[in-house]
Amino acid sequence: MVNFARFISVMHSDLIFTSDHPLWDQLAADGYGLINDFLTREEVERSLVLIHLREEEDRFHAAGIGALGDYQKNRIIRGDYICWLDPSLPDHPLQFLFDRIRELLLGLNRYCYLGLQDFEFHLAYYPAGSFYRKHLDSFRGRHNRIITVVCYLNLKWQPGDGGELVIYPEQGEKITVEPTAGKAAVFLSETIPHEVLEARQPRFSITGWLTKTPLGTGFLLQD
Ligand code: OGA
Ligand code: MN
Repeated sequence: MVNFARFISVMHSDLIFTSDHPLWDQLAADGYGLINDFLTREEVERSLVLIHLREEEDRFHAAGIGALGDYQKNRIIRGDYICWLDPSLPDHPLQFLFDRIRELLLGLNRYCYLGLQDFEFHLAYYPAGSFYRKHLDSFRGRHNRIITVVCYLNLKWQPGDGGELVIYPEQGEKITVEPTAGKAAVFLSETIPHEVLEARQPRFSITGWLTKTPLGTGFLLQD
């Protein structure tokens, strides 16, 4: 006979985003939370392999500001290069990431009542000398992005390499986040201003948004 109790406990031990995860309270209290072990070292390495492949395929482009209609490139505001991910690709090399994001999304719905439905993610590369000035990811009431998730891939990051994320919570002091490999920063897209300080070494990440309506594949056309 199948031992269901054992099966359930094995499944449960595989889950990261259980009811007692500190993220739910952090998000509710401060509007942001950090997860230091969101990706394993091996997952970071697999993500970097994909970044190098997409770079070789010339699939990165300069990131823009604003929606499709008022497309505008302004390197004075942001200097990163991005490549959108299509999670519907069969055997996607980042399937593990999409699975984790889905688990996070379900946890946010279950424990923070956010009613999230979909997600969109891109690879990001900040060359040395680039930054992203203080901004919000979504304008109140206008947009669909509720939660921002940034996953860092910088295996050799050390103080002085720059590229820190600075978060400006609604209350209290600003927070400086080192973009070290495996860490994820999660915050409310509409209310938490943030910036990326100038990178002095190439900086890699995977950035995305959890949205309140389904996206289809239209996001692949945007910046
Ligand atoms: C963004 C962003 C933060 C980071 O892409 O909108 O703010 O740390 N990224 O890369
Ligand atoms: Mn942002």
